Formats: sequence, structure tokens, C-alpha cells
Amino acid sequence: MMFLSVLLALPLVHNAVAQRHDGDMLSFVTLPDMRAMKFETEIKDRERLTDGYWFVAPYGQIDPEHPTKRYEQYQIGPYIYDNDGILIWGGSPMTDNLNVFDFKAVWHMDGDPRLSFIWQRDFDASTKGSGMVLNHHYEIEHEVGVTNNLPAFNMHEFNILPGGKTALACTYQSQQKDLSDFDRPNEKTWLQIGGFVELDIATAEVLHEWDSHDHVHLHESNAFHAWDAPAGKPGSDYVHINAVDKNNAGNYIISMRYTNTLYYIDGKDGHVIWRLGGSDSDFEFPFRFSHQHDVKFVSSNGTHHVISFMNNASTEGGNDEDLSSALVVEVDETDMSAKLIRRINRPDGGLTRLRGNVQMLPNDNVFIGWSERGYHTEHAPNGDLLLTARFASTRYSTYRAYKFPFVGRPLDPPDVVSSVFGTNDEDLTTIVHVSWNGATDVAGWNFYAQAYDKGDKVFIGYTDKVDFETMYIVDGFMDWVSAEAVDFNGTVMGTSKKHRTETPSHWKNSGWQGHSEHPAPDDPELLNANMDNSPAADTDGDMDDMDGMDDSPKSGSSYADAKQVTKAVYKAYDVIKGIGGFLIFILVTCSVGGALYGAWRMIRYRRQRAYHHLPTDEGLPMDEARAVNDARSFSLDEARSLDNEARSPRPE
Ligand SMILES: *[C@@H]1O[C@H](CO)[C@@H](O)[C@H](O)[C@H]1NC(C)=O
Ligand SMILES: *[C@@H]1O[C@H](CO)[C@@H](O)[C@H](O)[C@H]1NC(C)=O
Ligand SMILES: *[C@@H]1O[C@H](CO)[C@@H](O)[C@H](O)[C@H]1NC(C)=O
Repeated sequence: MMFLSVLLALPLVHNAVAQRHDGDMLSFVTLPDMRAMKFETEIKDRERLTDGYWFVAPYGQIDPEHPTKRYEQYQIGPYIYDNDGILIWGGSPMTDNLNVFDFKAVWHMDGDPRLSFIWQRDFDASTKGSGMVLNHHYEIEHEVGVTNNLPAFNMHEFNILPGGKTALACTYQSQQKDLSDFDRPNEKTWLQIGGFVELDIATAEVLHEWDSHDHVHLHESNAFHAWDAPAGKPGSDYVHINAVDKNNAGNYIISMRYTNTLYYIDGKDGHVIWRLGGSDSDFEFPFRFSHQHDVKFVSSNGTHHVISFMNNASTEGGNDEDLSSALVVEVDETDMSAKLIRRINRPDGGLTRLRGNVQMLPNDNVFIGWSERGYHTEHAPNGDLLLTARFASTRYSTYRAYKFPFVGRPLDPPDVVSSVFGTNDEDLTTIVHVSWNGATDVAGWNFYAQAYDKGDKVFIGYTDKVDFETMYIVDGFMDWVSAEAVDFNGTVMGTSKKHRTETPSHWKNSGWQGHSEHPAPDDPELLNANMDNSPAADTDGDMDDMDGMDDSPKSGSSYADAKQVTKAVYKAYDVIKGIGGFLIFILVTCSVGGALYGAWRMIRYRRQRAYHHLPTDEGLPMDEARAVNDARSFSLDEARSLDNEARSPRPE
């Protein structure tokens, strides 16, 4: 009896194993239309990590992709992951295979969390793109489009300002400018003028507009030179604006990549208050940066501005090695000085040649998106590396990566898919997959089945949530399966629809040797009669296990029980061999005790279960293939020819 007691005390891990995936992307039984990035994550110090989720938006190529006529699962778009790289929300079905940039959570609109991102224009410019705001139910709350004459919503920045009424975006506009700065006053060139707008989020109205035409000289540019011939339309991208932020004083800071300069701009008359970096810098400063990205105010009072940005190229004095870094700099206007407060070098020594961002976290950790391959790192205030992660796939990058707390409460119910396998009435096994795209705070799942359509919903088991999709294996042919998400307090958060269990399309061809043509669903009550679990709230598996001890078999010695258990394991193994390799994986990975216990339970159940199939009006469940819900609605056949004209500058 000791032996069994030990077994019984082991947690019920044998059926709480998450789906494993091959390849460099994730796929899910419950969300077959989506493939998500798989992360390679290394946590170096979990204790010091900031709580929160990662916000990334993988893209394959930066320009809008031409649709193909081949079926493709949704891949690119906004995604949320937890600190371990486990998927929380895949938004790619919503954004319909268009690129998404600058995806993040926003907490400063009215206290409720929001999501914001830039939805890139379509490949043929039939849509211009927009800044999107979703509520925490993943419903679109605002779609901030382009209301002026811009060709597209620029993909560099959608910066919702405190209060949530307005947002900043970058602009690129073709304009002409004479070359008097180069002593060629009689010549004119076309330029892509860089600027920004402050938009009303509710109406998309442009409330404030600024551009570089009258404020940034040609000689500041390292992209258009004194010896260059005048450019035709759309013009030379001479400044390349890639970030904008605003402080309490109502002034703006912008980053222009092709002038290596950060500009502090007066919110009233638009004049440049100071330049940091570049050929016309107003500061002498003992550090270097160039080709910077993502400038943001960390703090700013009347005289002192702390700013963070990503520096793609910089060299430490004397050291010739080039590597990218995140910089935090304090600008003091009282004596026009600038000093480096923090510098974090890219931990893998690599270069972030394009894109990237720096986010100061509330506990003074720093979260850095190095962009290519979704590489991001988190650092302690002293610079210690706490976490690194990158996409397993080399084919995708994310423009920026952020970390925020979030509360996601999708309105769609959890997705459940169940299937039954077996070769005879004795070994039928139902496998249930469940996920709830976008729900945070799910601790575990209660599973239910019914004997027939209108039958009672019978609890058939609980398991912890361990991955985006959770798999649960239950003995017998369970049908009309549903699942309930339970939070860490034991409160039910949501309930799936009832799912008719999928069966092999040809039982006989799938090895069915039972007496009948094919099996019929079991009555879960009969399973339940022998089960000691109770639903939901009680997530304390140990208690259940102790209950199980009380009604353990009365007859036979513990030796005999042990023998039974061993036999059961072999039997279970045979069954499992028959139904697929991933089950073997479960047996291999779960603790032997857990498996033995599971098998022992199975035996117990086998011994006591009566096999009578309840007749129902419904007949047998799966005589015909179920209609596949094809969520893809855009018609690829109507793909129009590529129109390059409205291309906006690439977000470098
Ligand atoms: C602004 O911040 C600096 C540095 O923290 C401080 O010395 C200065 O007094 C502050 N100025 C105002 C007006 O608060
Ligand atoms: C920084 O970016 C510029 C522009 O893309 C590139 O020419 C330069 O090589 C980059 N520097 C490094 C060190 O990657
Ligand atoms: C649930 O538990 C958390 C702590 O884990 C607590 O902060 C929260 O208030 C609880 N919510 C309810 C509804 O009990």
C-alpha cells in the first residue's frame, strides 16, 4: 500500500502536457489558420525580470507583400508572448497578412489597457494604412487613418500621448527645395521631407504639423550631398525621420537618421531649440552615436531632459569595434551639456543596422528590441543581462519590441477540438486540445463531456494551463466536449462551445476491431462515477489525490496492485503506440510515477466501467466530414497588379 500511496501523492502531470511543435514556428490544433513565431528564450535571472508580456510584430519583408494564390496561414502581425516566450495572443488573423509595426500596450488612455499598432497600407495602396487602437477585448476602438494628402500612414511611429486623446506619427512628403545651401541657388531638387503630425485619435484630424523643409539644412544630411545632381520625384530621403515624442512642456523630440541628429522642437512656432549630434550639434558631448532610432523622453522638466534611444553604430573611445547599443542621455539646458547616463551594448556583439528600440521599464530595467530576427534583451538597472530571446525562424524580424503588463479578455470563447482514437471498445481514448487566444491570467482548464446533445454536462477533469494550447487526454469516447478557463483564484473566466468529437473518417481502415461498425460516445457519468475529481475552483490536485486513496481497491495485496499497474503501463503503451508518436512523448516525459498512477486509474476504471452505449436521436457522431470553418475571406483571385507608386520610405 505504501507504493500506491506514493504514486497517489504524485501530481496529475500525466495528462497536462502541452502541444510540442516542430519546425521554427508554432502551429495549433485549435487555431489551424495561424502559425506563430517560436521564440528561443534564455532567462538568466528570473527574479529580477519585470512582470509583463512581450509585444512584437513579426514581418517577413518590410514592403507590403503581393498576395499569392497559394493558401498561407496567418503569420505576420501583432503577437503577445509571456516572459517565457509562450504565446498569449496571435493577432495575425485580424490583420489579414498585412504588416504591423510599433505594436504595444497603452495604459495611459483612461486606466483600461489598450493595444496600439500601425497597420501597413496594402500592396497596391488600395488602403493607406492606419494607426489602430484595440480595447482589451481585442475589439477595434479607433482606426486613425490618413486624412491629409499623405500617400500612406508612415510605419515608424504611432505614439499615443498621455490622456489618450492624441497620437504622434511620422510623415514623409515630396517637396521641392532649392540648393542654395550648396551654393547652387538656381537648382531645385525633389526631397522626401521628414516631419510629424499630432493626430486626434477619435477623428484622425491633424492638430499639429511640422516638417523639416524650413528647419533642417541640406548640409546636415549624409544622404544627399553637395555634389549630387537634383533628384526627381518623389525625391531624396534626405533626413529619414524615424521617431517622435512630446514632453509636458508641449515640445517635441525627433530622431532623424540621415542627419545623425536628435532635434528638440518648439511646440508653438516649430523652431529647433537644440540639436544633439550631427554636423550642427549645439552640444559638445563625450559619447558618440549615429543612425539612431526610437528617441523617447524618459523624463523632462524645464531644463533637464533624459532621453533614451537606440544607437546603431558607435565606437567606444579607442576601441574600433562596432556594435549597437541602447543609450540613455541627460541633456542639461542650463549649461548646454549632454552626458551619458546609461549605455547597454548589444549582448551578442552584433549590429542593429536597421530599426530597433529602447524601453525604460518602471523598475528601471531596460527592455531592448534589436529588431532583426526578433532579438530582444532585458537588462537590470546596472546593465546585467537578465533575458535574451529571438525568433527560431531567421525569416522574420520585428520593427520594435516592447514589454508591458496587460489584461486580455477576448470576447470569443475558448477554442476546443477533441478527437477519439482506438482499436476496440476497451482502449478508446479522447484527446482534447484547448486554447483561448488573447486571454491572460488563465491558470487551468476544467473539461466536460455529455452523453448526448441535451445530456448533463459532466466534469471529466482539470489540468493546469502550461502553454498557449493545452492538451488533455481522457479515457473512453467523450463527446460534446467543452472546457472552462479558470483563473488563479479558481474563478471561471470563460466557457467554450460544445465540441463534437472528431472520429477517424474510416474506423475500419484506422484499425478498428470492435464488435460494432464503429463505437458510440460513452456516458461520461459512468466515468465520473469512478472519478474522484471535482470541477473548477479546487485547483489543489493533492487533495483529489488523497481522496483517490480512500476508494482504492480493497482486494488484493499491494504486490498484486503493483503488478496490475505494471501490466497497465504496458497496455497503455501499446494503445499509445497505436495512436501516435506524440503520446509516446508524453509517457517518456512525464514522471514514471505519474504514468503509473494514470495507468492504475485506467485499470481501476476499466474494471468498474460498464460498457453500454446510450442510444441517442443523434445517431453516431461523425458520419460525415464536418464543414471546415474557413475564416479566410479575402479573394486572392481578385488580386490586382502591383502599384509601386505610393511606396513610402522604408522604416530603417
Ligand atoms: C530638473 O531636473 C534636474 C535634474 O533632476 C534638477 O536639478 C532641476 O532642479 C529640475 N528643474 C526643475 C525646474 O524642476
Ligand atoms: C548604421 O546604419 C547605417 C545606415 O543603414 C549603416 O550604413 C551603417 O553601416 C550602420 N552601422 C553599423 C555599425 O551597423
Ligand atoms: C485573485 O487573486 C489575486 C492575487 O493572486 C488578487 O489580487 C485578486 O484580487 C483576486 N481576485 C478575486 C476576484 O478574488
